[in-house]
Amino acid sequence: MDTNVIYCGDCLVKLKDIPDESIDLIYIDPPFSSNRNYVAFWQEQEKRHFEDRFENVRAYLDYMKPRIEELYRVMKPTGSFYYHCDWHASHYVKMLLDSDYLFGYSNFLNEIIWHYRRWTGSSRNYLRMHDVILFYAKDKSKHRFNPPFTSYTSKSFARKQHYHTRIKGDDVYVTSISPKGVKENDVWIIPVINSQAKERLGYPTQKPEALLEKIIKASSNEGDIVLDAFCGCGTTLVVAHREKRRWIGIDISPTSCRVMAKRLEATTGIQEGRDFSVQDMPKSVDELRQYPAFEFQNWAVNALGGVPNKVKVRDMGIDGKLYPIEDIKKERKEGIDLFGEIDRYIPIQVKRTDQVGRPDIENFEIAMKRDKREKGIFIGFDFSRDALKEIRRAEREDGLLIEPKTVSQIVEDQLDKSLL
Ligand SMILES: C[S@@+](CC[C@H](N)C(=O)[O-])C[C@H]1O[C@@H](n2cnc3c(N)ncnc32)[C@H](O)[C@@H]1O
Repeated sequence: MDTNVIYCGDCLVKLKDIPDESIDLIYIDPPFSSNRNYVAFWQEQEKRHFEDRFENVRAYLDYMKPRIEELYRVMKPTGSFYYHCDWHASHYVKMLLDSDYLFGYSNFLNEIIWHYRRWTGSSRNYLRMHDVILFYAKDKSKHRFNPPFTSYTSKSFARKQHYHTRIKGDDVYVTSISPKGVKENDVWIIPVINSQAKERLGYPTQKPEALLEKIIKASSNEGDIVLDAFCGCGTTLVVAHREKRRWIGIDISPTSCRVMAKRLEATTGIQEGRDFSVQDMPKSVDELRQYPAFEFQNWAVNALGGVPNKVKVRDMGIDGKLYPIEDIKKERKEGIDLFGEIDRYIPIQVKRTDQVGRPDIENFEIAMKRDKREKGIFIGFDFSRDALKEIRRAEREDGLLIEPKTVSQIVEDQLDKSLL
């Protein structure tokens, strides 16, 4: 079985390729039945939404049930399972997981409360400031657990309060307290990722690395296999890698898969192709036609090695930028992040319609002139004769070099590369 791999697709399908009883630790954080669309990816105003496709809890549970069955199947008898959810569905999810054909009531270990503070609107109820993480073992008598400890506070240590006891009226000080500290309880106070946090990617449901670190250290050892079947921007994978675990990530969104691959490279120093792989990214032109517009744009820009625009609404005629490789190296050396502005770039425009027409090219020319670019790339399924004529005219008369690239050319290039 491959490890250190990201699979792009529905976990229900991808899990079928994972052998029975092969995984040590599973953490999942599936989208909840919250009737809320995640409309932000990089920024609030951006219209990349992860469809919260569950109208109600029932539909959510029906959706999750076969996926949990698969997850249960791939877990080792010594394995642990963490299901991250919030008030919308946590009680119903617990009832599902307690079923005898899944984990069973007796293998329930903890309801972990992740408490945080954040800004919320006023409401006629108490402010909601926690998530719930349901923790189960496949078999409570066999599961691996490295109990975490928190250090004593210096104040309490000084006062020796924690090991001060009174025997027969005398004060007796017990000196054999654990040097490791106090055993961790089930309420974890960890800040949410704020706008200044170093690890922040702008992914709306990104979880803090500190949370995953606790889980991974407690319920796995070095070399163990950690699986996240709804892995978003890859928090579990990054932490698992750092803690020397092997890992498998699955996500249905190709954009998420690209984001986490970049994050792994940027934060752990490993390299796609050499140290890990991204598998099952959509390949056929027909599959790509079915993509939501933003996923399609991201796929196209990423496929050329470019960086998609952070802002999708009012993108001013440019969907992404391709940076000459030397400039990227220079920027990295200078410590500026990859998404920062570098002046030498080639703009990329993407159109998902069947045929790119002359007006589309003309608009791109305007954007190129505005940004003082002489070269640009236009991606589409096909180009009309008029569009191609306009591209030739722009080169001849205005000195603008626009490269028309069809989706099938990109797909063929990718296939060629995968055969090398
Ligand atoms: C709440 S986010 C996970 C966030 C993650 N814990 C992190 O820290 O980045 C849920 C993810 O599940 C993915 N997803 C939704 N349905 C899926 C499915 N059937 N199979 C795999 N991934 C799925 C979404 O694309 C989304 O990225």
